[in-house]
Amino acid sequence: MKRFTDWFSLEGKKAIVTGGTRGLGYGMAEGLSRAGADVVIIGTTKKAWESAEKLEQAAGRPVRAVVGDLSVEQDTPAIYEAAREALGGRADILVNCAGIQYRCRAEDFPLEQWNRILALNLSAVFRMSQLAARDMLERGWGRIINVASMTSFFGSEMIPAYAASKGGVAQLTKACSNEWAARGVTVNAIAPGYMETKLTSDMKEKNPAQYAEVTGRIPMHRWGTAEDLQGITVFLAGDASAYITGAVIPVDGGYLGK
Ligand SMILES: NC(=O)c1ccc[n+]([C@@H]2O[C@H](COP(=O)([O-])OP(=O)(O)OC[C@H]3O[C@@H](n4cnc5c(N)ncnc54)[C@H](O)[C@@H]3O)[C@@H](O)[C@H]2O)c1
Repeated sequence: MKRFTDWFSLEGKKAIVTGGTRGLGYGMAEGLSRAGADVVIIGTTKKAWESAEKLEQAAGRPVRAVVGDLSVEQDTPAIYEAAREALGGRADILVNCAGIQYRCRAEDFPLEQWNRILALNLSAVFRMSQLAARDMLERGWGRIINVASMTSFFGSEMIPAYAASKGGVAQLTKACSNEWAARGVTVNAIAPGYMETKLTSDMKEKNPAQYAEVTGRIPMHRWGTAEDLQGITVFLAGDASAYITGAVIPVDGGYLGK
């Protein structure tokens, strides 16, 4: 019989985390690594190597990094292959976390930004999932964890491309799950609420009144942290979540329920 802790152990598993250089991806990579997985993070700059070193020290096991731009469609297969190679030729877990946003009124929103955001936040998620799933389906076991958003549920304002991309991530999660679930690969998404990272630091620094208003609206009265995503990531990556697939799970301090 399985011990309780075995449900959450990732010993022997190999994981790729996109956007693992900093922010939420870094925290998710740390969680996976601390649960026993071999981890490779993917980031756009050489800072990814520094982050891998820091992660190694935190988790006490090797963490590797691959540098590449996932918004460049033709580069994605080589980036995936490099990550897979760094894991010894196998990936069991894929976390699609890399994401960007840009704020502007919808009527003025530059098409260039629209394309840039959709390329990374949605198309790269599909491409990486497709590449990883081909491996996972062959072995009959895999976990794909996408990072969605509360804007997977509502449209917000000033971020039309971001909201469209995250709505797409939620639907893509279900679409891929429907095809792969019976073959051992679960596909789920985490929808973080307001989280303290570089992506959202503008509001705190430039608009403290709005920051205070948002904080007051969160039932837990605090913004989330990268650490707040570690438990759910380990849960979705392991055997404890075996019958959960196609789900978009809010981790938002209660915000969506209000
Ligand atoms: N911070 C929040 O409040 C919040 C809320 C909901 C969802 N999210 C989502 O969480 C994810 C991580 O966001 P974050 O807040 O940690 O942001 P962040 O800006 O701190 O980190 C983004 C990460 O993505 C990587 N990245 C950016 N462009 C890339 C590219 N072209 N190719 C490869 N990697 C690239 C960066 O290297 C970085 O590690 C994003 O998908 C974001 O949409 C964040």
